Amino acid sequence: MRTINVGPGALTVSEISLGCMRIDKLEAAAVDQLITTALDEGVTFFDHADIYAAGKSEEVFAASVKRLGLKREQMVLQSKVGIRPNLGMFDFSKEHILAATDGILKRLNTDHLDVLLLHRPDALVEPEEVAEAFDQLQSAGKVLNFGVSNQNPMQIELLQKSLPQKLLFNQLQLSIAFTPMIDAGIHVNNKDDFALVRDGSILDYCRLKDITVQAWSPFQYGFFEGVFLDNPKFPALNAVLDRVAKERGVTNTAIAVAWISRHPAHIQTILGTTTPQRVRDAAGSKGVELSRQEWYEIYRAAGNVLP
Ligand SMILES: NC(=O)c1ccc[n+]([C@@H]2O[C@H](COP(=O)([O-])OP(=O)(O)OC[C@H]3O[C@@H](n4cnc5c(N)ncnc54)[C@H](OP(=O)(O)O)[C@@H]3O)[C@@H](O)[C@H]2O)c1
Repeated sequence: MRTINVGPGALTVSEISLGCMRIDKLEAAAVDQLITTALDEGVTFFDHADIYAAGKSEEVFAASVKRLGLKREQMVLQSKVGIRPNLGMFDFSKEHILAATDGILKRLNTDHLDVLLLHRPDALVEPEEVAEAFDQLQSAGKVLNFGVSNQNPMQIELLQKSLPQKLLFNQLQLSIAFTPMIDAGIHVNNKDDFALVRDGSILDYCRLKDITVQAWSPFQYGFFEGVFLDNPKFPALNAVLDRVAKERGVTNTAIAVAWISRHPAHIQTILGTTTPQRVRDAAGSKGVELSRQEWYEIYRAAGNVLP
């Protein structure tokens, strides 16, 4: 498995992460098999959030780690706080960040998180409060590194103004079939919809600031509308993916991941599959470096146009 140097110099992570949003639905043995397969493939980074199945995904994960007798040092554990679905709000208050993180540590049965992310921007954020919470979590040894998710450059700047800790990650939706943050950069100053900057040029900002982008929903189109791989709604894209996969001797899943990895921002892909074979297929991307021409051909086959 290829690795990404985050920070740089803060930590080294596997280029592929296993997202645990959907694992609550699995039988215990299937969770064990999924985690074992991930580790066998060098996928040592696990992504959680306190809201996944209302905390059950973290519990299911911890139970499996215990059954398998895994050591804490074998894994890099990340989770997220800041969404309160029951209250219909986002919450970056000091009180909530601290309490929610304690809940995560308990459910994951660990004394520390390698990474804590703020899940979705809270319109009422007070950066000084976030700073107090992060300081407390860091000095207690409960959280080693911090980042955000779904945030634009000015939101990150605002937080960073009060934070001594460098924000290392920004987790954002990105797949071949969901590329607004790439489209806008290609269509600068055009009048078409592709040119709309919806994210404040977050991709370039993250590269400038050495923030590692994590791609969530790497196989979905729309907002959880479905998977584009082998989907008849995407005939041109699948034709190209299948051809390149055949040429490279890997699966279309591997090519979909390799397309994300080919971007020079060194993006980490957060898989959401619960199928061990798909984890193996995705890990097949490690031997694939797409050419510039292949990358653009796949991008265009997804329905994107160049100016
Ligand atoms: N920060 C955020 O706001 C945010 C939002 C959403 C998700 N996330 C994170 O991102 C992770 C990934 O999200 P996701 O689950 O939506 O991503 P995904 O990997 O794009 O989708 C996985 C889903 O697609 C299904 N699938 C069907 N055919 C597939 C194929 N050929 N290849 C791969 N998957 C196929 C999987 O089914 P099987 O399980 O049956 O394989 C699974 O249900 C989550 O686990 C979570 O950690 C973060």
